[in-house]
Amino acid sequence: MDRIRLTGGNPLNGEIPISGAKNAALPLMIASLLTDEPLVLTNVPRLTDIATLARLLAELGVEIEVLNSSGAWETLTTPIEGRLTLANEQARRLAGFGPDATYKPGGRTLRLTARTIASTHADYDLVSKMRASFWVLGPLLARCGHADVSLPGGCAIGTRPVDLHLQGMEKLGATIELDKGYVIAAAKDGLKGAEVRFSMPSVGATHNVLMAAVLADGVTRIENAAREPEINNLADCLNAMGAKIEGLGTSTLTVTGVERLHGAEVAVVCDRIEAGTYAMAAAMTGGDVTLSGVDASLFEAALQALTAAGVDVDVTPADNTIRIRRNGTALSPVDIVTQPYPAFPTDLQAQFMALMTMADGNAQMTETIFENRFMHVQELARLGALISLHGDRAIVSGVKSLRGAPVMATDLRASVSLVIAGLAAEGETVISRVYHLDRGFERLEDKLSACGADISRLPG
Ligand code: EPZ
Repeated sequence: MDRIRLTGGNPLNGEIPISGAKNAALPLMIASLLTDEPLVLTNVPRLTDIATLARLLAELGVEIEVLNSSGAWETLTTPIEGRLTLANEQARRLAGFGPDATYKPGGRTLRLTARTIASTHADYDLVSKMRASFWVLGPLLARCGHADVSLPGGCAIGTRPVDLHLQGMEKLGATIELDKGYVIAAAKDGLKGAEVRFSMPSVGATHNVLMAAVLADGVTRIENAAREPEINNLADCLNAMGAKIEGLGTSTLTVTGVERLHGAEVAVVCDRIEAGTYAMAAAMTGGDVTLSGVDASLFEAALQALTAAGVDVDVTPADNTIRIRRNGTALSPVDIVTQPYPAFPTDLQAQFMALMTMADGNAQMTETIFENRFMHVQELARLGALISLHGDRAIVSGVKSLRGAPVMATDLRASVSLVIAGLAAEGETVISRVYHLDRGFERLEDKLSACGADISRLPG
């Protein structure tokens, strides 16, 4: 397993291009199951989660092509005995591993075509690797009338049930049985529009039910829907494919079912979590970094928290840039509470906590989305951070300096909080289990070293 080595102390200075959002690209790729025509996605990031999903989609019958540097479509999936597969080499390519002379920021363009659905079985092997794979349930049910999809199981950050997804499908007329760890769903006479009211705004359940409802017969109202920008990206994509979804950006989505969807071309929205992460890294090292290709309106709560901490945040919407600066000023402690969008995102809690480890006083981080999302606390403590845990709250008592140490990545966002802390720590930090980082941060070492960070990958 690869490790990341970094020596802290260099302020970050320069420009960091922000990639397309993993959490938008995944549901957009899944939406390709809803039509037999090609869905073209631009600005797709190079990440292992993208490769994992591509592998599952190939098994379900989706042909996947990439636009190469000469402007030609290259097929990544291979037909074997009438089924499609994604070879390891192509998966590694999608994940962005290995040298790539053609690399330039701006993401990849993929073409996904589900001419026929070869299988409606999503196996445990793949679904257990990545929770978003479970979202194939809605589109498979809508297009084929049945699906058996492995339960995603628990995960390091909490139990993460799927009851809201299943209740939504049942409301649309599906029968659901659980058997040997699989959800067996069927809608013999097709899905029917209905009122679906979530008891909490779940991102995944909103994606899943939305993708089921677009092909249902009649009108579906999704109440208390999640409002994350990635949901808008999916709803825009579905509308471009011929769906009729109203209420985008609000917590009530009204979907008038249509008989079929067609192909479309859609861009993946910028990654607000990646942008927030680098903003916090720049603030942590006392640098001057311009984030490019970014829409500040997508993560205002995080930018406000940075401003409150004493960081200069200059947004230039016309250029899609945000300049983040902190020159010599101390960091003020700032309390945050993670909540659904548009409040402070849980996916930036660990990174903000890393920043607060060097604030001038005590800051309180309250995590209301996931019950076990403080695993970074132990590892940050290895670097000299002072943090005490009280149920869903962590109190961070700022210290004057951190010291490098060997640490372990535990989940995607926790891992990157260790990178942020390591960038400011004295001496060397080595982070193991960095496969977590590769799931969601495109070319992290390249982006940071281009701004002066002393960071490299130690191959396993
Ligand atoms: C999405 O996960 C993201 N994943 C997560 O990002 C993100 O942290 C989360 O939304 C919250 O913003 C992707 O987009 C791929 P939820 P999701 O359903 O959809 C409870 C990352 O690091 N719940 O909104 O799984 C659940 O347990 C990842 O990129 C139920 O109780 O999150 C949680 O407490 C990590 N029943 C809350 O809702 C359900 O059926 C919110 O979860 C579904 C969810």
